[in-house]
Amino acid sequence: MTIRILPAVGDPDAARTVSALLSQLPDAEPAPAVADSTALVDALAAAAQGAGAPSPAGPAAAVEALPEVVLVHERIGPTPALELIREVALRFPAVGVVLITADAGPALFSAAMDAGARGIVGLPLGYDELAARVQAAAQWSAGVRVHLGGNPDAAPGPSGTLVTVTGAKGGVGTTVTAVHLALAARAAGRSVALVDLDLQSGDVASYLDVQFRRSVVDLAGISDISVRVLQDAVHDHHTGLGLLLAPEEGERGEEVDDRAARQIIGALRSRYEVVLVDCGSQMQSANAAAVELADVALLVTTPDVVAVRAAKRQVRLWDRLQIRKAEETTTVVNRLTRNTEIQPPLVAKATGTQVARTHVPAAFKELQPCVDAGRMQDLDGRSTVKQALWALAGELGLVDAPAARQGRGSHRARPSLTGRRRKAIAAGAAPGSGTGPGPTPGAVPGSAAGSGSRFGARRGSAAAAGGPGPFDPAGPYEEG
Ligand SMILES: Nc1ncnc2c1ncn2[C@@H]1O[C@H](COP(=O)(O)OP(=O)(O)OP(=O)(O)O)[C@@H](O)[C@H]1O
Ligand SMILES: [Mg+2]
Repeated sequence: MTIRILPAVGDPDAARTVSALLSQLPDAEPAPAVADSTALVDALAAAAQGAGAPSPAGPAAAVEALPEVVLVHERIGPTPALELIREVALRFPAVGVVLITADAGPALFSAAMDAGARGIVGLPLGYDELAARVQAAAQWSAGVRVHLGGNPDAAPGPSGTLVTVTGAKGGVGTTVTAVHLALAARAAGRSVALVDLDLQSGDVASYLDVQFRRSVVDLAGISDISVRVLQDAVHDHHTGLGLLLAPEEGERGEEVDDRAARQIIGALRSRYEVVLVDCGSQMQSANAAAVELADVALLVTTPDVVAVRAAKRQVRLWDRLQIRKAEETTTVVNRLTRNTEIQPPLVAKATGTQVARTHVPAAFKELQPCVDAGRMQDLDGRSTVKQALWALAGELGLVDAPAARQGRGSHRARPSLTGRRRKAIAAGAAPGSGTGPGPTPGAVPGSAAGSGSRFGARRGSAAAAGGPGPFDPAGPYEEG
């Protein structure tokens, strides 16, 4: 552990001596001494504020930006040393303060401890004593930071099941599905996070009647997502779900790249037993990373020609970009009616995916009041859509106790593929959506072409070849 040390010493000679000794400490990163109490408090406040604003990383990031140890010389001014220690300890409780004093007697020791100091070093300064006090204060500080959520590795917790829900195309019921799977898992007692990675047009918040200004974007720039930082960004919904919403300004979704998505998902999985991600239907690097990592990747379609074609297109795209194989994808047929020609076995054949045993009936009237009220959580238990989606949650193992979940068949969690395809995201590959003749069924929706998108850059040699993908079942839904 590197120990950042900020000495506050007024006398220049004393400051030089302190700095010279600190520079010999192993793993120490001493800052130049500040000369008075005002400069010390200002420097600490600036460090905390610089890291804390404007993101909700706030408290934890602020703590992490502070030095672990502050040394206060007894002759500091204008605020007297003990008073200064008290102020620092109160305002920056994760900083270990050590007093440098000629009077190392028990009375002063007690007074310093009462003020909040973590140790005393006697004058004249000796290396061993200084090293011991600094290290002890730093260790204490590290402990406090873990407690405040400053260290995400300190409490890895369970590794939650990751379920992505992606639409074959827009409007097929992706969000309704994701929301109800989340509610079902929660009702079964699981801790559940619902993440909206439909970054440009996410409407999880609209379906659950939530107004919350924090979003997944607030976590995007943070490399160490601590418990505290995560808590700041997640909305604790009254249903018990933890909601990580899409940004209000759709264009800000671009700030969430695949690396950020992996980190955010990793952080959520360490806190929640089930992490459900609404990926929308437009793939970008963030939701592609989620689909790649998922234990269960659902693809929602409706039983009509256009949607099934779109499902096939999505599956091929995932295959070309090596995000996911068709056979590792589970298609959910939503808005099924008895009189449609396109029944689930046909969807399985056309897409090459597994099709969930549970299908969801079309029941517009049932849903309409809840959709209009923006309160999907109020959907009546007698609703056939709700019953089907909650049964689907059961089929996927989201409502079982963790031990029971291990043994499930077709939807058993697959091993995480973290890092497997990271190489494929190297920048600079030419987008291939314009390379082939005729229609390009796998073109990235909303075209990443020319945008420098990493998602576009994932396109590998299969795409460049322009040939038909491996999922090309003969059938009534062939393009061209
Ligand atoms: N089984 C169903 N029966 C009737 N209506 C449904 C069903 N499932 C979803 N809907 C309705 O379809 C509409 C679209 O649903 P939803 O918003 O979940 O789709 P989506 O795929 O997430 O759309 P978007 O592409 O906008 O994200 C909503 O009005 C929803 O109430
Ligand atoms: Mg949606």
